[in-house]
Amino acid sequence: MVCSDIDRAKNLLLTGNVVAIPTETVYGLAGNAYDEKVIARIFEIKQRPWFDPLIVHTDSLDKVKLFVEHLPIEAQMVAKLFWPGPLTLLLPKKNIIPDLVTAGSPYVGVRIPNHPICLQLLSRLPFPLAAPSANPFGYVSPTKPQHVADQLGDKIPMILDGAPCSIGIESTIISFESQIPKIRRLGGLDKAVLEKAIGPMEMDLQHAPNTSHTPGALLSHYAPQKKMLLGNLLELIAEYNNSATLGVLSFQKKYPAVPNDHQVVLSPSGCLKEAARNLFHGLRLLDSLPIDLILADYLPNRGIGEAINDRLQRAQYREKITYS
Ligand code: TXA
Ligand code: MG
Repeated sequence: MVCSDIDRAKNLLLTGNVVAIPTETVYGLAGNAYDEKVIARIFEIKQRPWFDPLIVHTDSLDKVKLFVEHLPIEAQMVAKLFWPGPLTLLLPKKNIIPDLVTAGSPYVGVRIPNHPICLQLLSRLPFPLAAPSANPFGYVSPTKPQHVADQLGDKIPMILDGAPCSIGIESTIISFESQIPKIRRLGGLDKAVLEKAIGPMEMDLQHAPNTSHTPGALLSHYAPQKKMLLGNLLELIAEYNNSATLGVLSFQKKYPAVPNDHQVVLSPSGCLKEAARNLFHGLRLLDSLPIDLILADYLPNRGIGEAINDRLQRAQYREKITYS
């Protein structure tokens, strides 16, 4: 099931199958982006609503031009600077991309991922790969082959092994339909780094389902099955420790009031990139423990910390919790 044979993945994809693939951000659930039947199967496996469009992956700018009408000048600039990399551009699509891929939008999300195995696979295929994150809809994204196997292993013929993802959080999504480019989803590429390249950008992180563009934008998303609350960990632990069995997801340190093996530290040295790499694995681990409630703190809101905080916030439980 988990296998490192790129040719096997290629042959499965050529014959209309869906295969999990590694990227540097998260694992994707990939299929021929030109084949409507395959796209429908991806939605079905993920239990994903039709209004939530898929990102299309390829391995060169020349190939992008085969399915995109044109690239605005800013798009060309960031593409040259940051591809391959954790950046998705929303670009006007050609008809060869089925409407199902974009949920009816005239724009298609495009990305050249920076992962050697994924790039090799893409270079051997005569079509680009549509690939959402390889998790059931709404759940935490997968950053290791085993994460995919745990949840979708019985639904797909192969998970192409590419080791743990080096970034660990999804791509940054930007759009160009207005004068000032917009960030539609925070992700693996820093806003500050992007702005240095193309000047100021607007933030347009939409939260409502069913809007025309909803990049990873559903308010409740990336969520573990256990309830999770965010805030000051000392205060939250004091509030809930008597009434619930707690798990803790913290940035740098453990808390003596909670059992050691119920705690995940994202980066003891305080490195935000390391924290991003460990985030989804940490959430999955806590979700598998015999606990009632996950408590987590916000990370410093700079660099990739901003994207991590966005994911934590979307994973947070939104109703009042009472334990008797
Ligand atoms: O890093 C990533 O982007 C990973 C890897 C596999 O490349 N993919 C990923 O895909 O995160 P997914 O489907 O889990 O999230 C992609 C988000 C979706 O929430 C979707 O709403 C948005 O991108 N998106 C895709 N195409 C779009 C489009 N044409 N217009 C607006 N939003 C789009
Ligand atoms: Mg996803």
